[in-house]
Amino acid sequence: MGGRIESAFESAKERGEAAFVAFITAGYPAKEDTPSILMAMQEGGASVIELGIPYTDPQADGATITAANQVAIKGGTSEIGPCLAMVKEAREMGLTVPVVLMGYCNPFIQYGEDRLCAEAKEAGADGFIVVDLPPEEGIDLNKACVKYGLSNIPLLAPTSSDKRIASLTDMASTFLYCVSVTGVTGARTELPADLDDFIKRVRSKTDLPLAVGFGISSPEMVNGVANMADGVVVGSSILNAMNGLGDDATTAERAEAVRSVIAHLVTGVKQDESPKNQATKLGQVPQEWAKVNEKSRFGQFGGQFIPETLSVAFEEIEEAYDEIKGDPDFLAELDRYRRDFVGGPTPLHKAERLTELAGGATIWLKREDLAHTGAHKINNAIGQALLAKRIGKKRIIAETGAGQHGVATATVCAMFGLECIVYMGAVDCERQKLNVFRMNTLGAKVVPVEVGQRTLKDAINEAMADWVTNVRDTHYLIGSAVGPHPFPTIVRDFQSVIGKEIKEQYKAKNDGKLPDALVACVGGGSNAIGTFYPFVDDKEVAFYGAEAAGKGIEFDEEHCATLTVGTPGVLQGARTFVIQKESGQTLNTQSISAGLDYPGVGPEHAFYKESGRATYEGVTDDQALEGFNMMCQYEGIIPALETSHAIYQAFHLAKKLGPGKNIVINMSGRGDKDMPQIAKIMGVDV
Ligand SMILES: *Cc1c(COP(=O)(O)O)cnc(C)c1O
Ligand SMILES: *[C@@H]1O[C@H](CO)[C@@H](O)[C@H](O)[C@H]1NC(C)=O
Repeated sequence: MGGRIESAFESAKERGEAAFVAFITAGYPAKEDTPSILMAMQEGGASVIELGIPYTDPQADGATITAANQVAIKGGTSEIGPCLAMVKEAREMGLTVPVVLMGYCNPFIQYGEDRLCAEAKEAGADGFIVVDLPPEEGIDLNKACVKYGLSNIPLLAPTSSDKRIASLTDMASTFLYCVSVTGVTGARTELPADLDDFIKRVRSKTDLPLAVGFGISSPEMVNGVANMADGVVVGSSILNAMNGLGDDATTAERAEAVRSVIAHLVTGVKQDESPKNQATKLGQVPQEWAKVNEKSRFGQFGGQFIPETLSVAFEEIEEAYDEIKGDPDFLAELDRYRRDFVGGPTPLHKAERLTELAGGATIWLKREDLAHTGAHKINNAIGQALLAKRIGKKRIIAETGAGQHGVATATVCAMFGLECIVYMGAVDCERQKLNVFRMNTLGAKVVPVEVGQRTLKDAINEAMADWVTNVRDTHYLIGSAVGPHPFPTIVRDFQSVIGKEIKEQYKAKNDGKLPDALVACVGGGSNAIGTFYPFVDDKEVAFYGAEAAGKGIEFDEEHCATLTVGTPGVLQGARTFVIQKESGQTLNTQSISAGLDYPGVGPEHAFYKESGRATYEGVTDDQALEGFNMMCQYEGIIPALETSHAIYQAFHLAKKLGPGKNIVINMSGRGDKDMPQIAKIMGVDV
């Protein structure tokens, strides 16, 4: 006890004030600025500093902090080491207020929890706030914090249930961070009406200080919070104060802007006679955090790395799905839609000429390209829309890469009468214009995403940020077997309909036997996991996944062969393989096919790779085009560019396995959507 954080809250209390907790992104706007800015924060009147660790994929942040992250990373602050050095330098300059490191878990995890805490302690940091590391996933960091006497500060949201609030307050050691609205960070004009209620709810479970943040932008708002909590967190307003200065401002000018905005805002911290919800205790011995949620795992992969705001939504989906997944009425309903709306079962077709051309194993095609809307995505979209209806959500959001998932979602929303918003990277909107038009025609709103690389990953971040904001009436209809538990399982189950069909169809055509190999392309991995899963116990059936190797895996940032080149990490809610730097920052990716252009992969594939159950290989853009042409010219089927990766892989596998063997390719989708892009590659003006 008696650490810097406790003293900060104690002395604010003695002055009759709330503690002012000031946020800044490390390395923003430039890496030389940060130590002086930290000093300026102290001089302006900050009691506690939150130092944001830049990350490529901040899912719960608004435009201001997201942009600050990108500027900092671009300016060379992308590793933990230099961020700690900034704290150390500020300590040497005379910084005495506590510094808490705030960020997303992957950079911290990649650094190693023990090393992180040892070095943070040594640099003069006091603790951590990790947005996407709920207690169930954060045991290792918590252990290291306890070992080195650092504080691990839990986040609470208005959506947190009383039960969750009770368990999170038990885990705190110094203060708790209460997010004042359901939503992303960003300056707002007034305090939310239900804030007082929320703080009261938390106060009834703990005597520790409560700091309230998100959106506070004026001394009046500061004062409003000061009279109902122990600390006031301000972030975006401080970053905004530097934005007016222009690129050639000096460090001293930037520090002065920060000092002055804090000095202005801090005039609001003085409390009235009897402020509400005040802490009566300044610290408690840190408790052991709860155990990992085992049911969300595929080996060491999977999990639920989510912001606290979403925890109840995830509980709700898990419960609803557990309830309906075995319900005969629900399954009958799904089956009816598969037949009457999607047009299933889709045929299993022997590719005679392609087989002859390969001169090896017999190639079979599961014609998912004949499904309504032209790809397998519709199976998952129908299943999840039915699930959303069950839990009473009338607004559907989705992300899309090639646009196929967006079209499938727009289609089912039209059919079920649900509102539909689709996030799509601006680059993808351009290369898949036709699908944007299809979505609009179906009544969906397409939102082009201008952040980051402006492709699928960025669209997922935006969809997640929307969900964090609108979780009460919105379902996020995720398009692949990725993301936090239970999405990888839900999507797999809805896509397994085809693997099951294939098994029956293949047996009927081959005297009850099973094929020797299954081949599917892997983006997030939904069509592949739907293919593989129903055969997982049939050990004689080999699994092959084709990943997009773009221009070649030897070229950094020019491919998206996650399982071939990536390393284990956490991306967008799950532990899986990630194409990342050692620092845990996600790398850019590239593929001819927008639907595969993703730096992560479903966690169950990560597990299959590690256990050796499946083999994953990279297929380059040029090879995929070869596969595309073969399928067009030898089978009369125009496949999607995604599927073309699997075709190339299957063709060469057929040669290798030789005659007498049988391969099934999952024809995940048709190529209509890709025709303008392919014409362009061929130099044809259509
Ligand atoms: C979206 C898409 C894919 C890739 O997504 P997965 O989740 O890996 O299946 C593959 N093929 C087609 C046709 C697609 O539209
Ligand atoms: C093929 O793709 C569909 C759609 O994703 C999937 O449900 C199915 O299981 C896949 N596998 C096979 C063998 O058809």
